[in-house]
Amino acid sequence: LKVQIPQDEGLEKSLSLLSEGYLFIQNRCKRLQTDIFQTRLFAQNVICMTGKEAAEIFYDNDKFERKKALPKRIQKTLTGEKGVQSLDGHEHQHRKHMFMSLMSDERLKDIVDLTKKQWEIAIVKWQTVDQVVLFDEVQEMLCRISCQWAGVPLREDEVKQRADDLGKMVDGFGAVGPRHWQGKGARTRSEQWIEEIVEKIRSGEFNPPKETAAYTIAWHQELNGQLLETNIAAVELLNILRPIVAIATYIVFGAHALHEHPEYVEKLQHGEGQFVQQFVQEIRRFYPFTPFVGARVRHDFTWKQHPFNRETLVLLDIYGMNHDPRIWEQPDVFNPERFNDWKGGNFDFIPQGGGDRYRGHRCAGEWLTINVMEASLNYLANQIEYELPIQDLSINLSRIPTLPKSRFVISKVSRRA
Ligand code: HEM
Repeated sequence: LKVQIPQDEGLEKSLSLLSEGYLFIQNRCKRLQTDIFQTRLFAQNVICMTGKEAAEIFYDNDKFERKKALPKRIQKTLTGEKGVQSLDGHEHQHRKHMFMSLMSDERLKDIVDLTKKQWEIAIVKWQTVDQVVLFDEVQEMLCRISCQWAGVPLREDEVKQRADDLGKMVDGFGAVGPRHWQGKGARTRSEQWIEEIVEKIRSGEFNPPKETAAYTIAWHQELNGQLLETNIAAVELLNILRPIVAIATYIVFGAHALHEHPEYVEKLQHGEGQFVQQFVQEIRRFYPFTPFVGARVRHDFTWKQHPFNRETLVLLDIYGMNHDPRIWEQPDVFNPERFNDWKGGNFDFIPQGGGDRYRGHRCAGEWLTINVMEASLNYLANQIEYELPIQDLSINLSRIPTLPKSRFVISKVSRRA
């Protein structure tokens, strides 16, 4: 017996996606009272689904593949072309292993140390000016941190432009028009910059330390024994630099949470138990960043009596799952304590993708993200004091990706006594 997937009636829904943003899938699931529906997006039939059971099948490599899953406009901005995100099977595992080899405990400690150092420098600087835009400053800090950590040379006079470009690749992916074109331009410039660095490493002109991403990626051998094409090496090195800079978004959301819930400043200061970890997890759950992830049906199969036809694009609703009342009590309340005795698995708390990160496409940088957030939250809550001038802190859920509108302006920064 086959049961048709509930239909989101009407024509192409890309405009609705642009206007409903993070709520696009959730709105339809509520209206149609379903965890799964079919719609038209990006000029094709698309299945959207949500919930823990849906996540379990979405991350089954026998059922789904990533080949041709990403719309061109996302490849031209966010991810680049022919990187790890687009691979399947052995090729994916081999490339993913390269990424995971960069995430050893020692290397995670290195990035935490670099993060602390940059916060120290930033505090000295911020004390000398009236006010700073936290998002822009943290992006620049993270640009320095990511390049140092990854073994990529960066002159002080290029930090602003590189940070801006790495940020724009992320900012441009959910847009059409000018914001999208800016993202494309940013990617073209960044790939050229990193291709040159890869070439210099290979020619011996430049020798980054062995443990760095720059070295590892430049000398990585594919399954056939060959080095990566220069452009693909650049795409993969940017798959390290770009998302590290993107942690700025979560750090600003952390500052937002501290502002909305000042009681947690004190709790973080007293460093009660694992509270900073819980706080960071709740930021990753509560605030909108990844809207959804996509994959294509590998072979025809049936799930819950619904037919999934080969090559159909399927989107899994990440934001919706972070606010699913079946998974989270009072999902729209910011409550770090919910992670106190959280016993979740690989398919219910998936802000950076689900499943197994070695076998599947789950984010390679999830631990790194958590570590850098924890170190940064410690500075925001424990090391500095600041004021918030009047500004618009609203977070627009129809914009993908989003931020507090003002990008979080702080003034009168001083070191905490
Ligand atoms: C994949 C989110 C930070 C490297 C992903 C995916 C998501 C994600 C949703 C795709 C999961 C899927 O397709 O199923 C995030 C968020 C971050 C972040 C919200 C916060 C800033 C990082 C960092 C790094 C990183 C810091 C590296 C230093 C990667 C890589 C992939 C990936 C290499 C591709 C994995 C694959 O296709 O196998 N990330 N990420 N990410 N992320 Fe992250």
